[in-house]
Amino acid sequence: MGPTMNEKKDKAIQRRYWDLTRDDDDIAWLAIDCPDQSTNTLSMAVLEELGDVVDELMGARPRGLIIYSSKQSGFIVGADVREFKQLDDPQETAQKISIVHELFSRIERFPFPTLARIHGFCLGGGLELALACRYRIAVDDERTRLGMPEILLGIHPGFGGTVRSIERIGVLGAMDLMLTGRSIDARRAAKIGLIDHAVPERHFDNAVRSLILQAPASRKPGIVAKLANTPISRPAVAAILKKQVAKRAPEQHYPAPYALIDLWREHGGDRGALFREEAKSIGRLFVSATSRNLQRLFFLQERLKSIGRDSKFPVRHVHVIGAGTMGGDIAAWCAMRGMRVTLQDREIKYVAPAIKRASATYKSRIKDRYRRSRVQDNLIVDIDGAGIARADVIIEAIVEDLDTKRRLFQQIEKAARPDALIATNTSSIPLEEIGEGMCNGSRLVGIHFFNPVAKMQLIEIISASNTDVLQSDRAANFAVQIDRQPLPVHSSPGFLINRILSPYLQEAMTMVDEGISPLQVDEAATQFGMPMGPIELADTVGLDICLSVGEVLAAKFGGTVPDVLRAKVQQGHFGRKNGIGFYEYKGKRVIRPKAEPVDTPARDLADRLVLRLVNESVACLREEVVADADLIDVGMVFGTGFAPFNGGPIHYALDRGAEEVHARLEQLRDDHGDRFAPDTGWERLLR
Ligand code: NAI
Repeated sequence: MGPTMNEKKDKAIQRRYWDLTRDDDDIAWLAIDCPDQSTNTLSMAVLEELGDVVDELMGARPRGLIIYSSKQSGFIVGADVREFKQLDDPQETAQKISIVHELFSRIERFPFPTLARIHGFCLGGGLELALACRYRIAVDDERTRLGMPEILLGIHPGFGGTVRSIERIGVLGAMDLMLTGRSIDARRAAKIGLIDHAVPERHFDNAVRSLILQAPASRKPGIVAKLANTPISRPAVAAILKKQVAKRAPEQHYPAPYALIDLWREHGGDRGALFREEAKSIGRLFVSATSRNLQRLFFLQERLKSIGRDSKFPVRHVHVIGAGTMGGDIAAWCAMRGMRVTLQDREIKYVAPAIKRASATYKSRIKDRYRRSRVQDNLIVDIDGAGIARADVIIEAIVEDLDTKRRLFQQIEKAARPDALIATNTSSIPLEEIGEGMCNGSRLVGIHFFNPVAKMQLIEIISASNTDVLQSDRAANFAVQIDRQPLPVHSSPGFLINRILSPYLQEAMTMVDEGISPLQVDEAATQFGMPMGPIELADTVGLDICLSVGEVLAAKFGGTVPDVLRAKVQQGHFGRKNGIGFYEYKGKRVIRPKAEPVDTPARDLADRLVLRLVNESVACLREEVVADADLIDVGMVFGTGFAPFNGGPIHYALDRGAEEVHARLEQLRDDHGDRFAPDTGWERLLR
């Protein structure tokens, strides 16, 4: 993508990343295009070269400057995370950051109007560069996303973003973006004043050109924003912000949001000091264990996204069989990702709730009504299963029953295109058994989604010993196309995530059986850093599902399912889905009864929970359920929310010390029973 200019452009110097041209209106157009990358990042080399461009522009004095990207993917996705590892000295980092501050300030001080012309991703450092321009215009389409996701890497904006975002949109709006790391679309960005205009693509260049030629005064936040930033109001606002953050990110685990709030509280009235302290704060945060672990997870996520990238498998049509909890949501999600989806079930009455659910989701998530109706039209009810013969991908999500699934796959195989991908969403039945009646069982692959589909980023891609590698690669590729992270897993009971999660959930239930209140169990886990306690999680997954997974695992690996779980299911207490499990649920609200806490330190409870999970992770590593320990770590973080700042279960154990964890397991075995016996896989880790 580039400007469509009628005028002849003249250009002088050949550069690696930036390309500066001048049009007949004397407007300078500065394009960024990082070679050999699909997205633009602000690496040190890119910023250094930008310094040369700024020197040239100072001398050239154009009528205005427009910064844009030549890449299809968007403007700039941020700083180059690959370089973060080198930032291991806080003082040196602060110095490097100050050089970038100076560079952006020179752009800000240009005596001519400057404008960032934004399409696609404009994140982190990219948005901070755009904020240093006098104006910002973005294409109003679904691909445009603006945000400052630094907090997700355990840092905060560092290229002056903490200063300029607050100046542009006020502290509340700016903090909302910086503290959550969420991204917003162009329309929302225009509404809150982060950009000047969101315009449809067809008017984009006219709007850009006329804004730079007319050069009106730049937008300023209103009076409320000013009032929030006085020395008297800052401490009060900061306290409120901290209270909000504390609900999702405790300070001892996530220092960055608190550092950001303190930065503003202490220096919000002094621009120079705010820049200086932003640089210092970033220097400190970069070397924090939390940031290092989050950076590592970022790269592991990238690794997952690259799996199956080489297999060319453009998916246009998905056919889903079974319109229940999972099938309905899988279908809705694929349609939202732009695919045509046919959804099949036994009768229309089984599909109707899924369509109703999808409509509600689209209504809340897709603001543009034309796009919404397009997505809605993509989701087609197909009771006869006519879509099977046309689909690129066929996903089975019917009841968890071997014979029914087996019969279904025999029919699917006959009707499907020879090149279609055939997949099951089973959560416990071995693929070999499901595919037994197929002429070519090597076609069958597991695409195991997690519940809720729209929220869980991870998908397990299951291969049996006979699965064709081409099919599992295509399944991984499909997962990336629907914006999910594929984790390749060997077919084995419970696969990876449920297998590791199960002993953790069961230990929590055993504690309840012992008389410890569910609330106290959950608090021990959340204090450890889990986003939700295991009892509430079990209720959310569904106690019937916990029981069936537990039984499958017990049959294969031994052990028993806690009596309390069996009793709950027998009473019909399935958890959140029918309003009662270990807790009661009123709509989305959970009602937790208060109970006298037992006299066991939270850390001991957390050890019982977490070390069973860690021990099972070690067993999976030994059995090679996945290729390596990194995949277990990233899988557990993105598949279950395992305390991300700890870097995943294996990383956590090694960080705490393999010997110490092993010894603790032995002690727990002596105190509580054989379920804590260290797996033989520890031998390798102890070496
Ligand atoms: P569900 O009971 O909500 O939905 C199953 C649907 O399949 C029902 O609408 C039923 O009418 C339909 N169905 C049954 N036989 C059929 C047939 N022969 N042809 C067409 N439709 C048929 O079940 P849920 O929870 O959605 O699970 C579906 C699959 O997904 C199972 O294999 C389960 O193990 C797996 N799964 C479930 C998860 C969960 O949290 N519920 C998570 C991950 C996987």
